Amino acid sequence: MTTFQCFVSNNVICCFNLLNKIDMPRTKIAGVGYYVPKNVITNNDLLKYMDTSDEWIQERSGIKERRYADRTAETTTTMGVEAATIAIERAGITAQDVDFIIFATLSPDYYFPGCGVLLQRAMKMKEIGALDIRNQCSGFVYALSIADQFIKTGMYKNILIVGSEKHSFGLDFSTRGRNISVIFGDGAGAVVVQPTEKDGQGILSTHLHSDGESAEILAMYNPGTHANHWVKEPVADFEEAEIGKMFMSNEMIEKAQNFPNMDGPSVFKKAVVKFPEVVMEALTKNGLVPDDISLLIPHQANLRISQFVQQKLALRDDQVFNNIDKYGNTTAASIPIALCEAWELGKIKEGDLICLAAFGSGFTWGSALLRW
Ligand SMILES: CC(C)(COP(=O)(O)OP(=O)(O)OC[C@H]1O[C@@H](n2cnc3c(N)ncnc32)[C@H](O)[C@@H]1OP(=O)(O)O)[C@@H](O)C(=O)NCCC(=O)NCCS
Repeated sequence: MTTFQCFVSNNVICCFNLLNKIDMPRTKIAGVGYYVPKNVITNNDLLKYMDTSDEWIQERSGIKERRYADRTAETTTTMGVEAATIAIERAGITAQDVDFIIFATLSPDYYFPGCGVLLQRAMKMKEIGALDIRNQCSGFVYALSIADQFIKTGMYKNILIVGSEKHSFGLDFSTRGRNISVIFGDGAGAVVVQPTEKDGQGILSTHLHSDGESAEILAMYNPGTHANHWVKEPVADFEEAEIGKMFMSNEMIEKAQNFPNMDGPSVFKKAVVKFPEVVMEALTKNGLVPDDISLLIPHQANLRISQFVQQKLALRDDQVFNNIDKYGNTTAASIPIALCEAWELGKIKEGDLICLAAFGSGFTWGSALLRW
């Protein structure tokens, strides 16, 4: 049936569903890469800056160490370039073959422009589209879902997705900020996605969600244009501030309002509900059950959250991949780093059913189910 006939028959939805099944290629992950800085920071190393302990951090989060980028030689973009270089090579293409970039980060090199264009320049790519997305810990799953749509419609053939973070530049390392600063680490992960005609291979479905009701529970307000509009307690005096000193002021810095804030227990409670829910959504959509999962790669938020999800879904240890003990929470980079590391360890093989799931600031959460 042609598209024209479909319109004539006034059966448009049915026709598009049919075309979807017949004509659209699926999206496969063709290459993976990751990069973490050499500088290892153990829990004990953090004692120089704040009142904490190795025992507290390991017990609450499962983190033993994390990596911090070189202060001046490495940026969110340069780490992304390192990861992308490996992913591109493994996909069997060159940087010049990439036809679209999606860069996910909450710690960009510049407030604007985004890291996508800096990567395009650094890798001497063609004048292709570069999209930066800001979905924090769900950034990679959101990016993969966006890329999937472009591949399925035939618009692009080689999309580079990068998740990268340089958290070590923007955290409060005093005791005041210890509930957040001990959790996060630096690093980057990247994948190249391409169309596949191979039967059954590729992304089966992606599922994206948000609930802005809790936007301030895990957030960084300044610099920003909010002018106390949303926050319950004013964070600066925008009424009296001199014009030109509203976006970022000495007052904000003095009061440590240029750092992220988090109500950890509230994040935890919501995460342990939404993670299993969005995994089940993906499985149900495809007529599958938790036992069918070869490997679940959850965003590495906290080992306790991953263990809770594993228990709720009754997954075996070999069905869940965790590496938060080595890298901490690397936000948009955590899933591609884990995916790549799992692949390098031989834990992902052709035909495996891989589930990626994320939850984070926003709140936003999502999942992707794919056949490798
Ligand atoms: C952050 C998190 C580890 C904190 O654990 P928690 O058991 O909830 O701890 P709380 O925030 O309730 O604080 C408990 C106590 O530990 C203290 N504490 C917080 N951070 C500490 C640290 N790094 N070292 C030592 N003590 C610390 C607090 O000050 C508090 O002390 P008090 O009882 O004397 O007031 C936990 O809430 C969590 O993992 N939440 C999810 C966070 C997350 O995943 N964020 C990323 C989302 S993608």
